[in-house]
Amino acid sequence: MTALTLSDLQAGYDPDLPIVKGVSFTVSKGEAVCILGPNGAGKSTMIKAIAGLVPCFGGQVQLGETEVTGMPSHLLARNGVGFVPQTENIFTRLSIIENLQIAAQLLPKPERPRRIEAMLDMFPDLAARPRELAGALSGGQRQMLAAARALLTEPEVLMLDEPSAGLSPKLVGQVFETLRRISDTGVTLVLVEQNVRAALALTHRALVLVDGKLAHDGPTDVLHDGRFLGELFLGHRAAEAGR
Ligand SMILES: Nc1ncnc2c1ncn2[C@@H]1O[C@H](COP(=O)(O)OP(=O)(O)O)[C@@H](O)[C@H]1O
Ligand SMILES: [Mg+2]
Repeated sequence: MTALTLSDLQAGYDPDLPIVKGVSFTVSKGEAVCILGPNGAGKSTMIKAIAGLVPCFGGQVQLGETEVTGMPSHLLARNGVGFVPQTENIFTRLSIIENLQIAAQLLPKPERPRRIEAMLDMFPDLAARPRELAGALSGGQRQMLAAARALLTEPEVLMLDEPSAGLSPKLVGQVFETLRRISDTGVTLVLVEQNVRAALALTHRALVLVDGKLAHDGPTDVLHDGRFLGELFLGHRAAEAGR
């Protein structure tokens, strides 16, 4: 079963200057994929376009069998897409529990307490201090809270933009442990990462985006060869991939 399909997606900030230049791939239900690529390749733009936060100029995004191209982000959230942006993904002046309560407002009222409870069960670190200000949390705990906010609505597909950016190696480990647990619950994961090593340990399949186009879509094992990845990033192998 297919969870997410992109067909020749073009997206960006100016229709005359697309940043995502015709990207196609499918992600199966329950799969975890990472999106790698050099800075400025368009990874964030692509993931935001899928999440309804950047305009699509051409092509399609499908959730399962349903076309959702250009659907506004709050409707996508109701239709099974969770998105954790790279920055400003929590309210730092509010407490943990308030952050969860706000995210829960997308749900029908009777379901809210049960889902907040479920998130506190899943993240004991957060459950231990529900009244703590989110701004007082460590980088790793902030990412957990951001993930919990996105998971509250029980998304089928969870997309995260560089959840380990700027964290110490120990916290990177913590974040990836969390992602592993999320993946084990059956949620489809789409993860944009700069931390190639950690990403490759988590996911079975990598997509490499170079200059708005896919330069590689396949198993992660070949990417353990740093030279291959280096050449991909520089674009030398893009032609070989036939794209
Ligand atoms: N809000 C924006 N408005 C205009 N251009 C943008 C905006 N955000 C990113 N860009 C441009 O889009 C290109 C891709 O950026 P981005 O998607 O952030 O790449 P990545 O996440 O792969 O580093 C860059 O050239 C960047 O300058
Ligand atoms: Mg980015």
